[in-house]
Amino acid sequence: MNKSENIIEIKGLKKSYDNGKIKALNGMDLEVKEGEFISLMGPSGSGKSTLLNMIGALDRADEGFIKVAGIDLMTAKDLNKFRSQEIGFVFQMHNLIPNLSVVENVEIPMYETKLSGKEMRERALELLELMNFSNLSDIINQNPTKLSGGERQRVAIARALVNHPSIVLADEPTGALDSKTGDTILNILKDLHQKENVTIVLVTHEPYVANMAERIFKMLDGKIVEEKKI
Ligand SMILES: Nc1ncnc2c1ncn2[C@@H]1O[C@H](COP(=O)(O)OP(=O)(O)O)[C@@H](O)[C@H]1O
Ligand SMILES: [Mg+2]
Repeated sequence: MNKSENIIEIKGLKKSYDNGKIKALNGMDLEVKEGEFISLMGPSGSGKSTLLNMIGALDRADEGFIKVAGIDLMTAKDLNKFRSQEIGFVFQMHNLIPNLSVVENVEIPMYETKLSGKEMRERALELLELMNFSNLSDIINQNPTKLSGGERQRVAIARALVNHPSIVLADEPTGALDSKTGDTILNILKDLHQKENVTIVLVTHEPYVANMAERIFKMLDGKIVEEKKI
C-alpha cells in the first residue's frame, strides 16, 4: 500500500445498541491515509470508542461501508488474522494480565504467529526497550500489578506494537496518567508515526494532545461534524 492510499475508508457507517434505541454511529464518514496521524474529539457518548471498535473489528457495524487495510470488514468472515496483524489497541485501562510477567504480557499477541519462543522473547524485549524504561531489567519479570500506571501503559503499548501493526488505535491512552507520564507515552506514539509510518487514530479530550495529530476530527451524535488540519 502506498502513502496516498486510504488505509481506513468508512462511508455511511451505522451502529446501534439496545435494539436501535441508541444510535452510537449514525452515518459516519471518514477517510484516513496510510501513515496519517489523526485525532478524534467529541463529548462523551458521541461514538468515539464505538468507531475504534469498528475500525479494529472488535465488533461489527449494522450498515454502511468500512474497509481497513484492504479488508472489507462488513463481509470478511475471519477477522482474527486482521486484528492480530494489522491493529494495535491501546486503551485507557491497559488490561494487562495480572498473573503473567511484564515480558509474557508483551508476548501474548505473538502466540498466533509462527515465531519460536526465543524469537518471541527477543521481539518482546526489543519493544520494551523502545518504551523508555530506566529500570527495564528490574521489571521484565515482575507482574504488572507491581508497576506504576505509566509503566503499565508503556507495557500495554509495547504489547500493542509487537506484531508490527499498520494501525494503532489509542482510546484516551493518557487519560488515567499524570501529565509527565502522559507526555512520555504521547512521544512514543509520535515517534512511531514519524519513524515507522504507523497510522495512528487517537481519541482524546485534551486539545493539546489532539494537536499532535495532522488532522483533528470532532464527533457529535455518531458523526463527524468538524475537521481541522494542523
Ligand atoms: N456495548 C454497548 N451497549 C449499549 N450501549 C452502548 C455500548 N457501547 C456504547 N454504547 C452507547 O453508545 C453511545 C456511544 O458510546 P461510545 O462510543 O462509548 O462514545 P464515546 O467513546 O464517544 O464516549 C453511548 O450512548 C453509549 O452509551
Ligand atoms: Mg469512549
